[in-house]
Amino acid sequence: MKTVQGLILVIGATGNVGRQVVSQLLGAGADVRALVRNPEAAGLPDGVGVVRGDLSEPGTLGPCLDGVGAVFLVWPFLTAEAAPAVLDAVRKHARRIVYLSSAGVRDDLEQQSDPINQFHADIERLIEQSGLEWTFLRPSGFATNTLMWAPRIRADGVVRWPYGAAARSLVHEQDIAAVAVRALTGDGHGGAKYLLTGPQTLTQVEQVHTIGEAIGRPLRWEEISPEAARQQLLTAWGDLSFVDGALDAWARFVTEPELVAPTVEDVTGAPARTFREWATDHAGDFR
Ligand SMILES: NC(=O)c1ccc[n+]([C@@H]2O[C@H](COP(=O)([O-])OP(=O)(O)OC[C@H]3O[C@@H](n4cnc5c(N)ncnc54)[C@H](OP(=O)(O)O)[C@@H]3O)[C@@H](O)[C@H]2O)c1
Repeated sequence: MKTVQGLILVIGATGNVGRQVVSQLLGAGADVRALVRNPEAAGLPDGVGVVRGDLSEPGTLGPCLDGVGAVFLVWPFLTAEAAPAVLDAVRKHARRIVYLSSAGVRDDLEQQSDPINQFHADIERLIEQSGLEWTFLRPSGFATNTLMWAPRIRADGVVRWPYGAAARSLVHEQDIAAVAVRALTGDGHGGAKYLLTGPQTLTQVEQVHTIGEAIGRPLRWEEISPEAARQQLLTAWGDLSFVDGALDAWARFVTEPELVAPTVEDVTGAPARTFREWATDHAGDFR
């Protein structure tokens, strides 16, 4: 299949979602190029053109965008500071952009509730003003977030974490990618803000038990205080406002479970994958 967009550039191609976007685009017969910082380490499939580029060095982007009709954009930073230069480069070449945003973005708020949603909202606004044809993907929590428990699960089968009753509609990265591929290659997605979720909510305790069933070993949840997790997350992530934003969201999901939306099936024609399917796909990561 030769797509209507011609060559498609995937930015964030080595990440959870971008890697899936690359392989599903190739599977659909599209012409795909991947922008990566380190081509030698990218480990991408045959058939994709791999080019070196860096979003923090806008001067590297022009050659990557040469001949490109559509762009899939993952934003790996915690502010939108570098976005105007990146979008300037994109719109000199491409006609269409599909942006990986977040379900947390609220259209009715000028100031978002945390820094992550703020940078996503800022980038969405810049894209709206860019003149590009755009689609925003707004996923709920990624099922891949639970990989942070993998070292403990492999070590002793006990997950020590706060807010066991927090209920999320975790979404499979393959489903986010499947919607991205439709938006990149098909028509009728311009101006859409797609809320992408899994097909049901599960509490964090239920997620851990589901992973246990997938790997054939019972796992245990041990509730710890938010303060104890805060220290761990601060060591891992380094940014206090980012950590507090995540903890506030988990606290909120105890009383207000994350929404479930039909969008994945509406767009792709296939039901959203369950967390059980995700855990089975990733069983090797937890064994
Ligand atoms: N996790 C969630 O629950 C959730 C929910 C909603 C939205 N989101 C959003 O999803 C996005 C992350 O998606 P993901 O999990 O698929 O990504 P990821 O696995 O964290 O990967 C990040 C990607 O960005 C690339 N990258 C990093 N710095 C770069 C730079 N300076 N120039 C070019 N590329 C660079 C990385 O490439 P290298 O190989 O070079 O490192 C990698 O391919 C974030 O914006 C996040 O806010 C996440």
